[in-house]
Amino acid sequence: MNQGLLHLHSLLRWIILILLVVNIVRHFSAANKPFTATDNKLGLFLMIAAHTTLLLGLYQWFTGTWGLTNIQHIGMGAAMKDRISRFWAVEHTTGMIIGIILITLGKTVAKKPFADAVKHKRSAILFSLALVIILLSIPWPFRAGIGRPWFPGM
Ligand code: HEM
Ligand code: HEM
Repeated sequence: MNQGLLHLHSLLRWIILILLVVNIVRHFSAANKPFTATDNKLGLFLMIAAHTTLLLGLYQWFTGTWGLTNIQHIGMGAAMKDRISRFWAVEHTTGMIIGIILITLGKTVAKKPFADAVKHKRSAILFSLALVIILLSIPWPFRAGIGRPWFPGM
């Protein structure tokens, strides 16, 4: 089951990346148009994907080999000195949590009493920052030592 949940965590990255790009393009190109129900819905799908990934990630962190177990096993000092342990102990986790907070803030903008143009602009900026941080925190296959497959099970 653990493997299945890790696969789902990995696969959801693509849903999040695609939805981020779609939301960003929409908000930048609709700067002077009304903020529509479709904008709300696309933001909601992004939130659901991001929060589900967060929940699955926390589960991996507390139960998997590379999160808490590794820190308890080798100690926090040693984990910080080892590039691979550090990536899983803090870099992936912190980067992704910041990315998901930015997504959540970007979505919450829609509920605020701002003019539609302001909503589009703020969502576009917050989602763009989230995209950059998430891209930097993914264990892409070409990243030495920490690389994982492009798609789960590959
Ligand atoms: C560790 C688990 C989770 C945490 C810490 C978390 C935290 C939050 C926070 C802080 C908000 C913002 C509330 C606001 O100010 O508007 C939120 C909203 C939301 N969460 Fe989560 N969440 C988690 C898991 C999930 C899961 C598993 C799902 C979906 C399957 C989910 C779906 C949503 C949705 C759809 C909203 C936005 C509702 C809206 O803006 O209309 N969350 N969550
Ligand atoms: C946008 C959010 C996130 C994305 C896109 C993402 C992406 C990924 C990917 C692609 C993997 C590699 C999966 C594989 O080996 O096939 C992974 C592994 C992992 N992620 Fe995330 N992640 C996110 C958030 C988080 C968060 C918030 C946490 C922890 C709180 C977390 C903890 C982990 C852990 C511990 C592993 C390694 C599990 C293991 O092999 O033991 N992730 N993540």
